[in-house]
Amino acid sequence: KKVVLAYSGGLDTSVILRWLQTTYGCEVVTFTADLGQGEELEPARRKAEMFGVKQIFVDDLRDTFVRDFVFPMFRANTLYEGQYLLGTSIARPLIAQRQIEIAEEVGADAVAHGATGKGNDQVRFELSYYALKPDVTVIAPWREWDLTSRTKLLAFAEEHQIPIAKDKRGEAPFSVDANLLHSSSEGKILEDPALPPDEIVFQRTISPESAPDVATEIAIDFVGGDPVAINGEALGPAALLAKLNELGRANGIGRLDLVENRFVGMKSRGIYETPGGTILLAAHRNMESITLDREAGHLKDSLMPRYAELIYNGFWFSPERRMLQALIDTSQNSVTGRVRLKLYKGNVIVTGRESPHSLYDTRVVTFEEDGGAYDQVDAQGFIKLNALRLRLGAAVGRKGGTP
Ligand code: ARG
Ligand code: SIN
Repeated sequence: KKVVLAYSGGLDTSVILRWLQTTYGCEVVTFTADLGQGEELEPARRKAEMFGVKQIFVDDLRDTFVRDFVFPMFRANTLYEGQYLLGTSIARPLIAQRQIEIAEEVGADAVAHGATGKGNDQVRFELSYYALKPDVTVIAPWREWDLTSRTKLLAFAEEHQIPIAKDKRGEAPFSVDANLLHSSSEGKILEDPALPPDEIVFQRTISPESAPDVATEIAIDFVGGDPVAINGEALGPAALLAKLNELGRANGIGRLDLVENRFVGMKSRGIYETPGGTILLAAHRNMESITLDREAGHLKDSLMPRYAELIYNGFWFSPERRMLQALIDTSQNSVTGRVRLKLYKGNVIVTGRESPHSLYDTRVVTFEEDGGAYDQVDAQGFIKLNALRLRLGAAVGRKGGTP
């Protein structure tokens, strides 16, 4: 039996690796993805070697992640429950996809992950596995083993010579998931939603209070709904997002403290940092404001919460997500042009937008003489017919829209 494990190199997945080898008695293949989490990946390789792993995969997936997952999601201005930019949710299907590819390459019939039985991530990983390889065997150690407490886990680590405190910070006082789009911190010292997060939680933004007193002005260029350049400099997907992250970090942008509804039914409190994504969302929405037809825009806006829920709940590889994606992508043909913004103490302030496909017509909208571009008399009938049913109602006593 052979299993491909999504391996970060951290304590938990190292325990899982050992546990799979000893308790399950299977050959483990490790897969470590570089999604821009900002961590060295060579230590993960060395650790896997130390555990006697023969097939070790370490892949740089940063551009794939941003081009094929993050950007498509941003075309919809996606937010879960009005706030969460889905930084963890959107990374899971890519990890699962590559894991299944590797399983096929090395002839493994099983895959394993380090997500707990309480969260969203187990669902996202496994729905993706099954959608791509219907007969796959899934091993989720957190739901199966008897290491039901931190103490037992640490005892197992000690017994199997798995390095614990060698990590500079020792055991983190909260759980972190990070990639190029965001970092998320949950659990332990963050579990009481009434208490503010300690400043040590924040790892990719300075606080808005300590950000510069002078605004940073930038311009983002879009082609077909995706950002392609910053301040006129063309950048590939990962480099562009990294650049936005840098600008966001320095201006205290993209911090978020929220309580969200997990798919399994519980509420959880998370601290997120999405500096570049927060800038990108504001810029993209403003690019659409001049390029999208009103009804096209309203239609995609009305579908966005549903699309967000699909991604949050782990249905990236589903017919309904693909159908929505096709609709969203179709809307983006004209979303090309430039947006100017100011970044200032945690705020993203849009100051201008221009496009060769702009639907904004100064002649029509102007308060000045419009030279016949718009006939104000037309508005009279427009309003009268829209008012007809309101007047009929009011005439029979249902004044003011009483149903
Ligand atoms: N709650 C977020 C989500 O479901 C993040 C989950 C992973 N984060 C973590 N710190 N372990 O997308
Ligand atoms: C986990 O439970 O493994 C992390 C949190 C989540 O998946 O929602």
